[in-house]
Amino acid sequence: MNDVIGISYLVASISFIVGLKYLGAPATARRGNLIAAAGMGLAVLVTIVGPMFGASTVVLPPLNLTLLVVALVVGTVIGWIAAQRVQMTAMPQMVSLFNGMGGLCAALIGILEYDHALSMACEVCESCTEMSLPIQHMIPTLAGLVIGTVSFSGSIVAWAKLDDRLGDRRFANQHIVNLALLTIIIVVAVLMTMSVVVGSAPLVILLVLCLLYGISFVLPIGGADMPVVISLLNSFTGVAAACGGFVYDNQPMLIGGILVGSAGTLLTIVMCRAMNRSLLNVLVGAMGGTAAQGVTTASGGSVKSVTATDVAILLAYSRKVVIVPGYGLAVAQAQHVCHQLEHDLVARGIDVAYAIHPVAGRMPGHMNVLLAEADVSYDRLKEMEDINPEFSTTDVVLVVGANDVVNPAARTDTSSPIYGMPILDVDHAKQVIVLKRSMKAGYAGIDNELFTRPNCSMLFGDAKSTLTSLVAELKNL
Ligand code: TAP
Repeated sequence: MNDVIGISYLVASISFIVGLKYLGAPATARRGNLIAAAGMGLAVLVTIVGPMFGASTVVLPPLNLTLLVVALVVGTVIGWIAAQRVQMTAMPQMVSLFNGMGGLCAALIGILEYDHALSMACEVCESCTEMSLPIQHMIPTLAGLVIGTVSFSGSIVAWAKLDDRLGDRRFANQHIVNLALLTIIIVVAVLMTMSVVVGSAPLVILLVLCLLYGISFVLPIGGADMPVVISLLNSFTGVAAACGGFVYDNQPMLIGGILVGSAGTLLTIVMCRAMNRSLLNVLVGAMGGTAAQGVTTASGGSVKSVTATDVAILLAYSRKVVIVPGYGLAVAQAQHVCHQLEHDLVARGIDVAYAIHPVAGRMPGHMNVLLAEADVSYDRLKEMEDINPEFSTTDVVLVVGANDVVNPAARTDTSSPIYGMPILDVDHAKQVIVLKRSMKAGYAGIDNELFTRPNCSMLFGDAKSTLTSLVAELKNL
C-alpha cells in the first residue's frame, strides 16, 4: 500500500506541473484544470483510504469518516454551484473567496498542530510552564498559521471590496500601524517557535494579530488594484499550504503549495510589469478607485459622437478591422454579440482580429476567458506586441469598453499615473470608434486624449446595445 501511495503522490505531483503548463494557453487551459484537479482528487483519495489498508507512510490524526464525507460533499456541492452560477464579472470575487478558504484551511492546520504539539508535550513534561515544543515542527506550523490567517482575512476584505460591500478605508499612519503589527506578529511567532512563550493564550493573541493585519493590509488598497493583491494573497496561501506539507511530510501538499506560491508570485510580478507599476506602488499607492468613481475624461478637446448607422457603413467598407475589448465588454456581457459582429464582418470578406492587452479588464486573462465563452476562435486573438505594428494598416479599430489600455498619455505624459505602461497603439489606425456609455474615466481615473483625436469618434451607449445595433445595421447594408 505504501508503494501505491508513493506512486499516486508522484502522479498527482506531475499532474499539477502538467496542469499548470496547460493553463498557460487559452486553448489548453480547460484540459490543464481538469488534469490538475484529477491529480488532486487522487492525492486526497489515497491519503484518506491509504491508512485503512495499512499504509504507514501517511500520518493522519484519527479520522472521523462521517464528518470527513459530510465536509467533502458539502464543500463539493457549494463549490460546484458557485462555479456554475458565477458571472464573468464576479470572477475576481470568487477567486478571492476560494483563496480565503485555502488560507483558512492552512490556518486551521496550524491551530490543530500547535494544539497537538501542546498536548504531546503535556504528556511528557512535569510542568506546562517549562515545556519545550519541537522546533522543527513549530517552524512550519506557526509559519502556516500566520501566513494562512493573514491570507484568510485579507482575502475576505478583498472580496468585500470587489463586491462593493466595502470602500477604501484609510486612517492616519496606516502604513506605520501595519509595519508595527507585522513586527509584533513576527516577534510573537518567533517566541512561540522557540517555546519562550507557550500555551493557548499566545496562540489566540497571534491569531487575532494576524486577522487584524490581514484586514488593515488590504483595507486601504484601491478597489481596482484588488486583482494584484489577490494574486499576492494567492501566493501567501500557497506558501501556507506548503508549510502544511512540511508538517505532515506530505509531498503533493508541499509541491502543490510551492507551485501555487510561485505561480501567484510570478503572476503578481507580471501584472505589475504590464501596468508599469511596482508592487510597493500597488500596495501603498492611491491609483485605482472603486468602480463607482465619476471622473470625466477628455476635458480639453471636442469629442465627435457618431451613430450606429455611421459606424456600420464605415465597417462595411473596410478591409481590415481590429476589435479592442476592455473591462466594459465584461460589464455589458457583450461578448456573444461581439462575436456575432465579427462573424458578420468576416462573412463580408473583412479581415477581423482582436487586440488583447495583458491587463485589459480586471483580472489576468479576463478578455481571453470572456471571448472564449463566446466561442471566439483563438486564432483571431492577437497579443499586444503582435498587433501593435498592424494598427497603421488597419481601417477601423472598434474599442469596446476599453479605456486605459488605449490611452496615448501612457506614451507621452510623464505626469500620468499610467506613464510607461505599454498600450495598444490604436491611434495609429485610420479610424477609431470607441464604444462606451459616457465620458467617464476607466480604472486609472484619468483623461483619455484619444477621444479628442481627429481620427476618433464615440459611439455612446451600453456596449451590448450598441453592438446589437451595429449587427442590425450591417444586415441592412
Ligand atoms: P478601463 O480603463 O477600466 O475602462 C473601462 C471602460 O469601460 C470605462 O471607461 C467605462 O466607461 C466603460 N464601460 C463600463 N461599462 C460599460 C458598458 N456596459 N458598456 C460600454 N462601456 C462600458 O478598462 P481597460 O481599458 O480594460 O483597462 C483595464 C484597467 O484595469 C487598466 O488600467 C489596468 O491597469 C487595470 N487593472 C487590470 C488588471 C488586470 S489583471 N486585468 C488588474 C488590476 C487593474 P463608461 O463608464 O463611460 O461606460
